[in-house]
Amino acid sequence: MTVNELQKEIIRLKKEKGVCILAHAYQRQDVLEVADFVGDSFALSRMAAKEKAGVVLMCGVRFMAETAKILSPDKRVLLSSPDAGCPMADQVSDEDVRALRKKYPGYTVMSYINTTARVKAESDVCVTSASAVKIAQKTENNDILFIPDPNLGTWVKRQLPEKNIVVINGGCPAHKSITEADVRREKERHPEALLLVHPECTPEVTEKADFVGSTTEITEYAEKSGASEFIIGTENSITEHLGFSCPDKDFYPLSPSCTCRDMQLTDLPTVYRCLTGRGGEEIILPGDVIERARRPIDEMLRLG
Ligand code: 13P
Ligand code: SF4
Repeated sequence: MTVNELQKEIIRLKKEKGVCILAHAYQRQDVLEVADFVGDSFALSRMAAKEKAGVVLMCGVRFMAETAKILSPDKRVLLSSPDAGCPMADQVSDEDVRALRKKYPGYTVMSYINTTARVKAESDVCVTSASAVKIAQKTENNDILFIPDPNLGTWVKRQLPEKNIVVINGGCPAHKSITEADVRREKERHPEALLLVHPECTPEVTEKADFVGSTTEITEYAEKSGASEFIIGTENSITEHLGFSCPDKDFYPLSPSCTCRDMQLTDLPTVYRCLTGRGGEEIILPGDVIERARRPIDEMLRLG
């Protein structure tokens, strides 16, 4: 089949089977085109909570499908690619969180949404890159233990110096790989371009940016901006998508190394196989984990 024929077949199948396809913005362009909803992690969580369809197919990584299941336990939630994890989410276990609580008694445990369901179940509140600053600001407790991304945690800390935010080691391998040298080189090559980066980048990179935001925020900023050239410091799929949404503007990747292998595991044949029952994985979580993990996510949706 051609790309177009396969897309048509996927759209026919999802309608026939009552499946809602949610896709993270890091998915490939051809996958985004068959999705019912595309967004950043925060928008996907809100959609998963609202969605009426009985089956949700998540094109993204495991923590996103788990979040959808936690918010909609009565629905079948399918993950397009069972191997699509998030190396950063796997850096912290529920046991680690319990040990950290002992080390930092009285602290609010704030977990990035990029965590396993079991880690969420041990947390007080979740945040996404789009909601982290707002939620930390609204959190009454000034002592915050931020897990697992030290770069996002440090970004929040810079916006809210009044808060005592403790971060741990770790981070997203793709975003961490971007260096100051990348920033220097791309700014020299494109002196008129604005630098838009994700807060998972290191502080040395975010402090030189014209704008720091989630994938959706970066996209909206570039689409609305009067400028015509942008250097994009996040997963390189965003540079490609912006080329489609704004063909009259120029987009340059900040670093060729900022690619997420896990996010790119899903393609159209993967989505097709999942819809025909020959691939994908249904997310099954223990009832008590769902119940405990729901509280910090609900708190995020309430505050954010
Ligand atoms: P967003 O919060 O921008 O969706 O980012 C999720 C992610 O995994 C970034 O690496
Ligand atoms: Fe995880 Fe980084 Fe991939 Fe996002 S880009 S899913 S944080 S590894």
